[in-house]
Amino acid sequence: MNAVRSKSSNDPISYDAAAVLATGGIHQADVDDLAGPLSKAREESLNDLERWRTDGAGNESLDPAFLDLPERLLADYGTRRPESELFSILQTARRLREAVDRVVVLGIGGSYMGTRALFESCCHPFHNELSRGERGGRPRLSFEGFNIDNDSAQGLLDVLRSPPGGGDGDDLLAQWAMLVVSKSGGTLETAAATRFFLNALSDSLKGDAKQVAERVVPVTGASGKLASLAKTLGCPDVFGIPNGVGGRFSVFTAVGLLPASLVGIDVVRLLEGAAAMTQRFRESPVSENPVLQYVAVCHLAEKKMGATIRVLSSWSNQLESVGLWYDQLLSESLGKDEKGATPLTTVTTRDLHSRGQQHQDGRRDKLITNLCVGESRRDHIGLPPLSGSSGNEDQLDDLIGTTWPSMLAAATEGTNEAYASVKRPTATIHLPQIDEFTIGQLLQMLMLATVVEGRLVGTNPYGQPGVEAYKKFMMKRLRPDG
Ligand code: PA5
Repeated sequence: MNAVRSKSSNDPISYDAAAVLATGGIHQADVDDLAGPLSKAREESLNDLERWRTDGAGNESLDPAFLDLPERLLADYGTRRPESELFSILQTARRLREAVDRVVVLGIGGSYMGTRALFESCCHPFHNELSRGERGGRPRLSFEGFNIDNDSAQGLLDVLRSPPGGGDGDDLLAQWAMLVVSKSGGTLETAAATRFFLNALSDSLKGDAKQVAERVVPVTGASGKLASLAKTLGCPDVFGIPNGVGGRFSVFTAVGLLPASLVGIDVVRLLEGAAAMTQRFRESPVSENPVLQYVAVCHLAEKKMGATIRVLSSWSNQLESVGLWYDQLLSESLGKDEKGATPLTTVTTRDLHSRGQQHQDGRRDKLITNLCVGESRRDHIGLPPLSGSSGNEDQLDDLIGTTWPSMLAAATEGTNEAYASVKRPTATIHLPQIDEFTIGQLLQMLMLATVVEGRLVGTNPYGQPGVEAYKKFMMKRLRPDG
């Protein structure tokens, strides 16, 4: 977190589903009855890691190495510091930070959504609008290559050519670099954007091939088209995405950690949060295990209450991208064989004015999980007197001094009460505050929950064979004779 850094805590995040049980749609006995299957699903998920390590799991697609990745990265950093992966990530981040004022991340799906979640949750909400000084010398971060949107790519090029806050030619404020992230190295959206921005980078560096190579950092699998391009360009820093870590589970590899570190996020605290969650997942009894309780309630709400839509309702603007990252995680992992709940991210109170009607009165097919934050980072805003008038035209004088957090708390409690009054199932994931340690816990909790649920319902959570269909038909149109 930069510009304004609150003190990081060691507080655990928690999960509370009392209000789901209070609807009577599922009972404590149902949750208790699931303890055996949940333990088994946990065991199977952990065994996936052993199976993958010992025999590569045969024909089954398996990507379970995210499970203990945070603790492995931290241990390696602790023991072999200069040779460790984390050290290299931090070194490259420092090199780029000192050389450029903007970094463009090119990637799609799991190759950019986790980065976006980290950036938007842990950084200043207007990071890119701050001056370099206010950003603590950390570069701005922009995203492209996640679509084939002509005007958006051209728009970013405009910005790169005339950086906000001035700067041209050799000025630091005009310098930029690109991270190209693709595990396969062959995804069309990212590859097309790579060509486009590589040309622009080369132009901006007057064709200096050495400088271009230094400004392109590929993050990719060991072999593939992007790995070959990196070799040809002579990029001095290239990061791998370890075998056994799938795209949507890769946020704690260089995919997420390099850009996070670039913008000043404390990646060690992130990993510590994630490792702490894995430890709770492994060691806590089912009844006190946030991952397993979350899976139990989501699963039972789907089976017994028809809640096939899972609304993740963020009570902070800064967690919206975490929700979008989770949308992908759940959809691609469990949306298979005509099964799998549909995730939906909302930001409240914003979306109470767009979706609230349906959530309160519409079809009974939703489980709402609030994402609530205990403490805001900044000084509390109190409602001020109305400037330029003593007439109380807006009729809010009785609330003068009421703080933003207390208004939000009233909105949260009021919304929960409204849902409870019509027996709409509502659970809460509580974050004591938003910082690297809690975000690390949250992302790891949701990844663990996704694979455990897969094992519980007999769906392999890894791989995304369904995505190949659109790629095949798209390429057939682009290369009809190919
Ligand atoms: O979860 C996944 O594996 C996918 O969402 C991929 O991240 C996405 O398709 C991008 O693939 P790649 O990183 O190979 O470009």
